[in-house]
Amino acid sequence: MGKRSSKRAELAGSAEQPPATDGPLPILPFTPSTNLLGYLGPLQKDPLGVVMMALGKNERLVRLRAGHLSIFILFDPEDIRRVLIDDAEIYGKATRGYDLIRQMLGDGLLSSEGDFWRRQRRIAQPAFRKKCIEGFAQSMVTAAQAQCDAWRTVADGSTTTDVAEAMTLVTLQIAADTLMSADMQREGREVGDAMATVLERFNDQVNSALPWPAYWPTRANRIMWRAIRRLQSITDNLIQERRASGEQVPDLLGMFMAAEDPESGERMDDLQLRAEALTMLAAGHETTANALTWTLYLLTQNPDATAQLEEELDRVLAGRAVSLSDVEALTFTRSVIDESLRLYPPGWMITRRAMRDGALGGSRIPKGSYIFLSPYAMHRHPDYWTDPDTFDPSRFGPEGGDIDRHVYFPFLRGQRQCIGDRFALLEMTLVLATFAQQFRFTLEPGHQPELEPSLTLRPRNGMPMRLTAR
Ligand code: HEM
Repeated sequence: MGKRSSKRAELAGSAEQPPATDGPLPILPFTPSTNLLGYLGPLQKDPLGVVMMALGKNERLVRLRAGHLSIFILFDPEDIRRVLIDDAEIYGKATRGYDLIRQMLGDGLLSSEGDFWRRQRRIAQPAFRKKCIEGFAQSMVTAAQAQCDAWRTVADGSTTTDVAEAMTLVTLQIAADTLMSADMQREGREVGDAMATVLERFNDQVNSALPWPAYWPTRANRIMWRAIRRLQSITDNLIQERRASGEQVPDLLGMFMAAEDPESGERMDDLQLRAEALTMLAAGHETTANALTWTLYLLTQNPDATAQLEEELDRVLAGRAVSLSDVEALTFTRSVIDESLRLYPPGWMITRRAMRDGALGGSRIPKGSYIFLSPYAMHRHPDYWTDPDTFDPSRFGPEGGDIDRHVYFPFLRGQRQCIGDRFALLEMTLVLATFAQQFRFTLEPGHQPELEPSLTLRPRNGMPMRLTAR
């Protein structure tokens, strides 16, 4: 059983939450801290540690002070549902992280808000329909197979290779190809390097106590802006080439260029197309790369699950390459992925800001407060999971039973749910099937993976492994 009921769950289901507009409620007091700046330092040094410390308090919500900021961390599915669904209009994205994303990539789907975001989502949504995404399956398998071919030379059981780096290359190849039909051999590699520079800088800025403004001409900022300008010009050129040729290319960019808002009939202008393309590239490849890396790691630690996975792949594929038509039959492969996304959700922390006063868990939430929802913490919450730290794919799949949608939410829920969820799940299934069919992975002896919680949940110092051909 993946989930067990609890007092807390019963309480959550009882909807005894006061509506957001009721009279003044008391505000939950801050968790005491001996530090003058409260939890600012610990949050910068070890944000995941702070969130897990808050989980350990076994409270419905925990309030921390970080400098002048007031932060509420939520641990109750009912409160999470409120923030993401019922009161979604109160809790917006005016956070430091999203401000940075806006400056760096333009106001794409990830950071935009209100009517503008709604319009963009309506225009982009058709490109993520099941039929459209399925059209990318072959490209996903081709990229995975190219990585397998590259691995053949090191698959001797003793050579160490960094699978985290390989996963970034594979997912970047897939993103560049499906998004803008760019080949990694040409502009794709440049896009990859520039994107890595931008993400690196983003992490530094968000984790810094007193970040230099992004426009300040520090050396790091100049390098970042050079990378951003390169990304912008590559994307602009692609858009111009396509406009000039009139050709309709069946990739995501082509679909965005052709798409009309069903309500207003409007299309995206070139600036917006650029912002959306760069956002998709950023949001779509590091997340999936990390999820695949952690999945391979979990398999190295769980020989029984690996054996079950290999049995399924051998039975369903009988030695041939995986294709779209196999996906439905690969139920255990999918459960492995779902369970890996539980233990290591790439979007490990979701932040929001109260745009006006709200109410959660019996406390007033003053305007301007930060709200933290952590899939990582909720996915390991002892009230909702049996043996939360144990890798057990049978929590999912046909035998798995119901899982609360606001306890397990690697792709979020509500109106801001990841638009690329179906894309990512298909990609991960096809890539994992291709790898595990051909290789067995072992972790480099003595290596202890460490979590690096930045924009996504990465392994610090990569993931060194040894491969043997099966
Ligand atoms: C395992 C892989 C992935 C995970 C875990 C993931 C997770 C998430 C999460 C948690 C959000 C919500 C962020 C927030 O509102 O604060 C999100 C939004 C988003 N994701 Fe993903 N994502 C993944 C893959 C992808 C892919 C492959 C794409 C594109 C092809 C993509 C594009 C987006 C976009 C555009 C948004 C913003 C949607 C909106 O607000 O309308 N993601 N993702």
